[in-house]
Amino acid sequence: MSVARTCPFGVCDGSGMVVDDERRLAAPCRCRGLIVGERRARGLSNAIPRKYRGVSFDRPPISDMPAASVQVVRAYLRNLDQRLEEGRGLWLYGDVGTGKTTLAMLVSKTALEAGRSVAIYSLPRLLAEIRDTYEEGSRHSYTDLLDRLAEVDLLHVDDVGTEKTSAWVLEQLYAIVNARYEEQKSIVLTTNLSREELSEQINPRTVSRLEEMCEELPLFGSDHRRYVEPDLRTA
Ligand SMILES: Nc1ncnc2c1ncn2[C@@H]1O[C@H](COP(=O)(O)OP(=O)(O)OP(=O)(O)O)[C@@H](O)[C@H]1O
Ligand SMILES: [Mg+2]
Ligand SMILES: [Zn+2]
Repeated sequence: MSVARTCPFGVCDGSGMVVDDERRLAAPCRCRGLIVGERRARGLSNAIPRKYRGVSFDRPPISDMPAASVQVVRAYLRNLDQRLEEGRGLWLYGDVGTGKTTLAMLVSKTALEAGRSVAIYSLPRLLAEIRDTYEEGSRHSYTDLLDRLAEVDLLHVDDVGTEKTSAWVLEQLYAIVNARYEEQKSIVLTTNLSREELSEQINPRTVSRLEEMCEELPLFGSDHRRYVEPDLRTA
């Protein structure tokens, strides 16, 4: 079964071309360069969620975030090709609503725009996808999914540590992290847990690998989630 392609930026209809009906013009979408990389990442999710599609250094909320934290991401993206070749990643951790997912999405978006293959998942969603491969008549086998997760240039895992932990979950997470560790492929992850808490909740062998692969980026402060009148929103 072939799956219809969706534009990771939510701009085109998935074809890689943007059609201007009025002027009867077709122009390439900025997702166009991704199509080759996507073939390698067959069937993995690479869509930037709508809320984060407009993320950029020079707009809120990122322009309002602590400069030192933003600087880490800026330096990472400035050397993106090298970082991805070396399998270097980022580990964003800290309080609720401090911009971890926003910054991680900026990394994924920049990598996608540079034509790199990216897989974007919250950990619960990734685990659900793995669980599905066990279902009878599943589209992909477990090993096939794991291979693809090990191959993409960048794996973005959001919300690590929110899932209720079971031996099965720990084993899956270890398998993915270890496969990428061995292939020297980058991981960007966000979590609310400190390293100590994470070591208690997930396998210390997983945490140890992540520590070697990722630069740590703490984000603390008060929760910035609040209701904003629609008229006052920037994006
Ligand atoms: N420094 C900031 N200034 C203003 N708004 C911010 C700031 N940081 C985050 N926000 C806003 O707060 C909301 C939450 O941001 P985000 O989803 O990135 O948080 P998070 O750290 O991933 O939270 P969680 O730990 O709950 O997943 C978003 O609406 C974002 O635009
Ligand atoms: Mg988040
Ligand atoms: Zn597109």
